[in-house]
Amino acid sequence: MKPRVMVTRRLPRRAMAVLDQHFEVRCNPHDRVLTREELLEGVRGQQGLLPLLTDPIDDAVMGAAGKQLRIIANYAVGFDNIDVAAATARGIAVGNTPGVLTDTTADLTMALILTVSRRIVEGDAYARAGKYQGWAPELLLGRDVHHQTLGLMGFGRIGQAVARRAVGFDMRILYHARHRVSSEVEARTGARYVDQETLLREADIISLHVPLTARTRHLIGADELSMMKPTAFLINTARGEVVDEAALAEALEAERIAGAGLDVFEREPRIHPALTGMKQVVLLPHVGSASIATRTRMGEMAAENLMAVLLKDQQPPHCVNPEIYR
Ligand code: DGY
Repeated sequence: MKPRVMVTRRLPRRAMAVLDQHFEVRCNPHDRVLTREELLEGVRGQQGLLPLLTDPIDDAVMGAAGKQLRIIANYAVGFDNIDVAAATARGIAVGNTPGVLTDTTADLTMALILTVSRRIVEGDAYARAGKYQGWAPELLLGRDVHHQTLGLMGFGRIGQAVARRAVGFDMRILYHARHRVSSEVEARTGARYVDQETLLREADIISLHVPLTARTRHLIGADELSMMKPTAFLINTARGEVVDEAALAEALEAERIAGAGLDVFEREPRIHPALTGMKQVVLLPHVGSASIATRTRMGEMAAENLMAVLLKDQQPPHCVNPEIYR
Protein backbone atom coordinates (compact mmCIF):
# COMPACT_ATOMS: atom_id res chain seq x y z
CA MET A 1 0.00 0.00 0.00
CA LYS A 2 1.26 3.47 -0.85
CA PRO A 3 1.90 5.91 2.04
CA ARG A 4 -0.79 8.53 2.59
CA VAL A 5 0.16 12.12 1.86
CA MET A 6 -1.90 15.27 2.02
CA VAL A 7 -1.18 18.06 -0.49
CA THR A 8 -2.81 21.31 0.59
CA ARG A 9 -3.10 22.82 -2.90
CA ARG A 10 -2.80 21.43 -6.43
CA LEU A 11 0.78 21.75 -7.75
CA PRO A 12 1.98 21.94 -11.37
CA ARG A 13 1.03 18.83 -13.37
CA ARG A 14 4.42 17.13 -13.49
CA ALA A 15 4.92 17.48 -9.75
CA MET A 16 1.43 16.05 -9.08
CA ALA A 17 2.25 13.11 -11.37
CA VAL A 18 5.35 12.25 -9.30
CA LEU A 19 3.34 12.45 -6.10
CA ASP A 20 0.48 10.32 -7.50
CA GLN A 21 2.94 7.70 -8.66
CA HIS A 22 4.37 7.13 -5.19
CA PHE A 23 1.68 8.12 -2.71
CA GLU A 24 -1.98 7.84 -1.92
CA VAL A 25 -2.54 11.59 -2.35
CA ARG A 26 -5.32 13.51 -0.69
CA CYS A 27 -5.35 16.86 -2.46
CA ASN A 28 -7.26 20.03 -1.66
CA PRO A 29 -10.16 19.89 -4.15
CA HIS A 30 -10.62 23.69 -4.13
CA ASP A 31 -8.59 26.34 -5.90
CA ARG A 32 -8.10 28.27 -2.66
CA VAL A 33 -6.29 28.05 0.66
CA LEU A 34 -7.87 25.46 2.97
CA THR A 35 -9.68 26.78 6.00
CA ARG A 36 -8.28 25.83 9.40
CA GLU A 37 -11.09 23.31 9.85
CA GLU A 38 -10.48 21.75 6.44
CA LEU A 39 -6.77 21.49 7.18
CA LEU A 40 -7.35 19.87 10.57
CA GLU A 41 -9.78 17.41 9.01
CA GLY A 42 -7.59 16.76 5.94
CA VAL A 43 -4.42 15.86 7.83
CA ARG A 44 -6.09 13.19 9.92
CA GLY A 45 -4.39 9.83 9.38
CA GLN A 46 -1.79 11.17 6.93
CA GLN A 47 1.84 9.99 7.04
CA GLY A 48 3.15 12.93 5.07
CA LEU A 49 2.01 16.51 4.65
CA LEU A 50 2.92 18.82 1.79
CA PRO A 51 1.83 22.32 2.80
CA LEU A 52 2.40 25.75 1.25
CA LEU A 53 3.57 28.91 2.96
CA THR A 54 -0.12 29.90 3.22
CA ASP A 55 -0.82 27.01 5.61
CA PRO A 56 0.13 27.59 9.24
CA ILE A 57 1.31 24.19 10.47
CA ASP A 58 1.37 24.36 14.24
CA ASP A 59 1.36 21.77 16.98
CA ALA A 60 -2.43 21.41 16.81
CA VAL A 61 -2.28 20.48 13.10
CA MET A 62 0.44 17.92 13.83
CA GLY A 63 -1.64 16.57 16.70
CA ALA A 64 -4.72 16.33 14.48
CA ALA A 65 -2.73 14.30 11.94
CA GLY A 66 -1.90 11.67 14.52
CA LYS A 67 1.18 9.73 15.51
CA GLN A 68 1.87 8.29 12.04
CA LEU A 69 2.75 11.74 10.61
CA ARG A 70 6.48 11.51 9.85
CA ILE A 71 7.27 14.37 7.51
CA ILE A 72 6.13 17.88 6.63
CA ALA A 73 7.58 18.68 3.20
CA ASN A 74 7.06 22.40 2.73
CA TYR A 75 6.58 23.66 -0.84
CA ALA A 76 8.93 26.62 -0.26
CA VAL A 77 12.44 27.41 0.81
CA GLY A 78 11.10 29.52 3.70
CA PHE A 79 9.49 27.58 6.54
CA ASP A 80 8.18 30.32 8.82
CA ASN A 81 4.66 28.84 8.42
CA ILE A 82 5.77 25.73 10.34
CA ASP A 83 6.37 25.39 14.06
CA VAL A 84 9.67 23.57 13.55
CA ALA A 85 10.31 23.26 17.30
CA ALA A 86 6.98 21.47 17.73
CA ALA A 87 7.76 19.16 14.80
CA THR A 88 11.17 18.39 16.25
CA ALA A 89 9.67 17.64 19.66
CA ARG A 90 7.32 15.18 17.95
CA GLY A 91 10.15 13.62 15.90
CA ILE A 92 8.59 14.82 12.62
CA ALA A 93 11.02 15.77 9.82
CA VAL A 94 10.56 19.17 8.17
CA GLY A 95 11.74 19.56 4.58
CA ASN A 96 12.03 22.57 2.29
CA THR A 97 13.10 23.38 -1.30
CA PRO A 98 16.32 25.41 -1.17
CA GLY A 99 18.43 26.39 -4.16
CA VAL A 100 15.96 25.73 -6.94
CA LEU A 101 14.23 29.08 -6.66
CA THR A 102 17.34 31.21 -6.09
CA ASP A 103 17.82 32.42 -9.67
CA THR A 104 14.10 32.75 -10.38
CA THR A 105 13.62 34.96 -7.32
CA ALA A 106 16.76 36.95 -8.12
CA ASP A 107 15.42 37.54 -11.65
CA LEU A 108 12.18 38.88 -10.23
CA THR A 109 14.08 41.11 -7.83
CA MET A 110 15.90 42.68 -10.78
CA ALA A 111 12.57 43.04 -12.57
CA LEU A 112 11.17 44.98 -9.60
CA ILE A 113 14.28 47.15 -9.37
CA LEU A 114 13.99 48.05 -13.05
CA THR A 115 10.22 48.45 -12.92
CA VAL A 116 10.11 50.92 -10.04
CA SER A 117 13.20 52.84 -11.16
CA ARG A 118 12.13 53.22 -14.78
CA ARG A 119 8.36 53.56 -14.11
CA ILE A 120 7.51 50.64 -16.37
CA VAL A 121 4.04 49.95 -14.99
CA GLU A 122 3.12 53.62 -15.31
CA GLY A 123 4.44 53.68 -18.87
CA ASP A 124 2.46 50.58 -19.84
CA ALA A 125 -0.76 52.03 -18.40
CA TYR A 126 -0.09 55.34 -20.17
CA ALA A 127 0.43 53.67 -23.56
CA ARG A 128 -2.61 51.39 -23.20
CA ALA A 129 -4.79 54.34 -22.22
CA GLY A 130 -4.00 55.93 -25.60
CA LYS A 131 -2.24 58.86 -23.96
CA TYR A 132 0.97 58.54 -25.97
CA GLN A 133 1.12 61.48 -28.35
CA GLY A 134 4.76 61.18 -29.38
CA TRP A 135 8.27 61.23 -27.92
CA ALA A 136 8.79 63.99 -25.37
CA PRO A 137 11.92 65.02 -23.44
CA GLU A 138 10.26 64.86 -20.04
CA LEU A 139 7.87 61.99 -20.51
CA LEU A 140 7.94 59.50 -17.61
CA LEU A 141 11.43 60.32 -16.42
CA GLY A 142 12.70 57.73 -14.00
CA ARG A 143 15.97 56.95 -12.30
CA ASP A 144 18.92 55.00 -13.67
CA VAL A 145 19.70 51.58 -12.30
CA HIS A 146 23.21 51.35 -13.73
CA HIS A 147 26.00 52.75 -11.56
CA GLN A 148 23.64 53.15 -8.60
CA THR A 149 24.38 51.76 -5.15
CA LEU A 150 22.50 48.57 -4.35
CA GLY A 151 22.14 47.66 -0.68
CA LEU A 152 21.36 44.00 0.03
CA MET A 153 20.00 43.21 3.48
CA GLY A 154 20.68 39.51 3.89
CA PHE A 155 23.31 37.83 1.77
CA GLY A 156 22.40 34.18 1.43
CA ARG A 157 21.79 32.38 -1.85
CA ILE A 158 19.23 34.84 -3.22
CA GLY A 159 21.02 37.99 -2.07
CA GLN A 160 24.22 36.75 -3.72
CA ALA A 161 22.37 35.88 -6.94
CA VAL A 162 20.98 39.42 -7.05
CA ALA A 163 24.50 40.79 -6.53
CA ARG A 164 25.81 38.75 -9.48
CA ARG A 165 23.09 40.24 -11.67
CA ALA A 166 23.76 43.75 -10.39
CA VAL A 167 27.41 43.47 -11.48
CA GLY A 168 26.11 43.41 -15.05
CA PHE A 169 24.46 46.76 -14.38
CA ASP A 170 27.74 48.23 -13.12
CA MET A 171 26.19 48.79 -9.72
CA ARG A 172 28.11 49.43 -6.54
CA ILE A 173 27.00 46.65 -4.20
CA LEU A 174 26.84 46.83 -0.42
CA TYR A 175 25.50 44.11 1.82
CA HIS A 176 24.65 43.66 5.44
CA ALA A 177 24.04 40.28 7.00
CA ARG A 178 24.33 38.61 10.38
CA HIS A 179 27.42 36.79 9.19
CA ARG A 180 29.97 38.27 6.85
CA VAL A 181 30.66 35.94 3.90
CA SER A 182 34.15 34.79 2.86
CA SER A 183 36.42 37.09 0.92
CA GLU A 184 36.10 34.72 -2.08
CA VAL A 185 32.32 35.20 -2.14
CA GLU A 186 32.73 38.95 -1.70
CA ALA A 187 35.17 39.00 -4.64
CA ARG A 188 32.91 36.83 -6.80
CA THR A 189 29.84 38.95 -6.17
CA GLY A 190 31.59 42.30 -6.03
CA ALA A 191 29.78 43.08 -2.78
CA ARG A 192 31.23 44.99 0.18
CA TYR A 193 30.14 44.34 3.77
CA VAL A 194 28.89 47.39 5.68
CA ASP A 195 26.96 47.94 8.89
CA GLN A 196 23.20 48.30 8.62
CA GLU A 197 23.13 52.05 9.08
CA THR A 198 25.71 52.68 6.36
CA LEU A 199 23.71 50.50 4.00
CA LEU A 200 20.48 52.35 4.78
CA ARG A 201 22.09 55.77 4.34
CA GLU A 202 24.15 55.06 1.21
CA ALA A 203 22.02 52.75 -0.96
CA ASP A 204 19.90 54.03 -3.83
CA ILE A 205 18.04 50.73 -3.91
CA ILE A 206 17.62 48.52 -0.85
CA SER A 207 16.60 44.94 -1.46
CA LEU A 208 15.63 42.54 1.34
CA HIS A 209 16.81 38.93 1.36
CA VAL A 210 16.50 37.77 4.96
CA PRO A 211 14.37 34.90 6.24
CA LEU A 212 11.51 35.79 8.56
CA THR A 213 12.53 35.20 12.18
CA ALA A 214 11.82 36.93 15.49
CA ARG A 215 14.95 39.01 14.81
CA THR A 216 13.98 40.13 11.30
CA ARG A 217 10.29 40.93 11.94
CA HIS A 218 9.94 44.68 11.23
CA LEU A 219 13.63 44.91 10.40
CA ILE A 220 12.56 47.89 8.31
CA GLY A 221 10.42 50.27 10.35
CA ALA A 222 10.01 54.03 10.70
CA ASP A 223 13.57 54.55 12.01
CA GLU A 224 15.21 52.62 9.20
CA LEU A 225 13.05 54.28 6.56
CA SER A 226 14.01 57.68 7.91
CA MET A 227 17.68 56.87 7.32
CA MET A 228 17.12 56.08 3.63
CA LYS A 229 17.73 58.67 0.93
CA PRO A 230 14.59 60.48 -0.25
CA THR A 231 15.49 59.23 -3.74
CA ALA A 232 15.85 55.59 -2.67
CA PHE A 233 13.65 52.59 -3.47
CA LEU A 234 12.82 49.65 -1.21
CA ILE A 235 12.43 46.20 -2.78
CA ASN A 236 10.98 43.25 -0.88
CA THR A 237 10.89 39.73 -2.32
CA ALA A 238 11.60 38.06 1.04
CA ARG A 239 8.75 38.08 3.57
CA GLY A 240 6.18 40.82 4.14
CA GLU A 241 6.56 40.86 7.91
CA VAL A 242 10.16 41.99 7.55
CA VAL A 243 8.76 45.45 6.79
CA ASP A 244 6.43 47.49 9.00
CA GLU A 245 3.93 48.10 6.20
CA ALA A 246 2.13 50.97 7.93
CA ALA A 247 5.45 52.76 8.45
CA LEU A 248 6.35 52.13 4.82
CA ALA A 249 3.04 53.56 3.60
CA GLU A 250 3.61 56.64 5.75
CA ALA A 251 7.17 57.13 4.47
CA LEU A 252 5.99 56.84 0.87
CA GLU A 253 3.07 59.21 1.42
CA ALA A 254 5.40 61.77 3.00
CA GLU A 255 7.90 61.24 0.15
CA ARG A 256 10.59 60.29 2.64
CA ILE A 257 11.59 57.59 0.14
CA ALA A 258 10.99 57.53 -3.63
CA GLY A 259 9.16 54.26 -4.13
CA ALA A 260 8.90 50.55 -3.47
CA GLY A 261 8.67 47.25 -5.31
CA LEU A 262 6.86 44.66 -3.23
CA ASP A 263 6.23 41.00 -3.95
CA VAL A 264 5.28 40.15 -0.36
CA PHE A 265 3.06 41.77 2.27
CA GLU A 266 2.74 41.86 5.99
CA ARG A 267 -0.75 40.30 6.11
CA GLU A 268 -1.00 38.34 2.87
CA PRO A 269 -3.13 38.28 0.87
CA ARG A 270 -4.20 41.69 2.25
CA ILE A 271 -2.23 44.73 1.13
CA HIS A 272 -2.11 47.97 3.08
CA PRO A 273 -4.83 50.03 1.33
CA ALA A 274 -2.65 53.15 1.09
CA LEU A 275 -0.11 51.27 -1.04
CA THR A 276 -2.59 50.27 -3.74
CA GLY A 277 -3.20 53.89 -4.70
CA MET A 278 0.45 54.90 -5.09
CA LYS A 279 2.01 55.25 -8.52
CA GLN A 280 5.51 55.00 -7.11
CA VAL A 281 4.81 51.52 -5.77
CA VAL A 282 4.80 48.30 -7.79
CA LEU A 283 2.83 45.45 -6.24
CA LEU A 284 3.07 41.77 -7.14
CA PRO A 285 1.13 38.82 -5.67
CA HIS A 286 4.09 36.85 -4.19
CA VAL A 287 5.36 35.45 -7.50
CA GLY A 288 9.11 35.47 -6.79
CA SER A 289 9.49 31.76 -7.60
CA ALA A 290 6.64 31.62 -10.11
CA SER A 291 8.22 30.20 -13.24
CA ILE A 292 6.86 26.97 -14.67
CA ALA A 293 10.22 25.22 -14.33
CA THR A 294 10.86 26.38 -10.76
CA ARG A 295 7.39 25.68 -9.37
CA THR A 296 7.52 22.22 -10.97
CA ARG A 297 10.97 21.51 -9.56
CA MET A 298 9.87 22.73 -6.11
CA GLY A 299 7.09 20.11 -6.23
CA GLU A 300 9.54 17.41 -7.28
CA MET A 301 11.89 18.37 -4.45
CA ALA A 302 9.07 18.24 -1.92
CA ALA A 303 8.19 14.79 -3.34
CA GLU A 304 11.83 13.70 -2.95
CA ASN A 305 11.72 14.79 0.70
CA LEU A 306 8.54 12.74 1.21
CA MET A 307 9.98 9.72 -0.61
CA ALA A 308 13.16 9.68 1.48
CA VAL A 309 11.20 9.43 4.71
CA LEU A 310 8.14 7.43 3.70
CA LEU A 311 9.60 5.04 1.12
CA LYS A 312 13.27 4.72 2.09
CA ASP A 313 13.21 5.44 5.80
CA GLN A 314 15.94 8.04 5.32
CA GLN A 315 16.57 11.66 6.27
CA PRO A 316 15.01 14.00 3.65
CA PRO A 317 17.63 15.46 1.28
CA HIS A 318 16.55 18.95 2.36
CA CYS A 319 15.84 18.78 6.06
CA VAL A 320 15.59 21.83 8.32
CA ASN A 321 15.60 19.85 11.58
CA PRO A 322 18.28 17.18 11.01
CA GLU A 323 18.76 16.94 14.77
CA ILE A 324 15.87 14.48 14.94
CA TYR A 325 18.13 11.96 13.19
CA ARG A 326 20.98 12.23 15.71
C1 DGY B 1 9.61 30.52 -0.64
O1 DGY B 1 9.91 29.45 -1.22
O2 DGY B 1 9.90 30.70 0.54
C2 DGY B 1 8.93 31.56 -1.47
O3 DGY B 1 8.51 32.65 -0.78
C3 DGY B 1 7.81 30.98 -2.28
O4 DGY B 1 8.36 30.45 -3.38
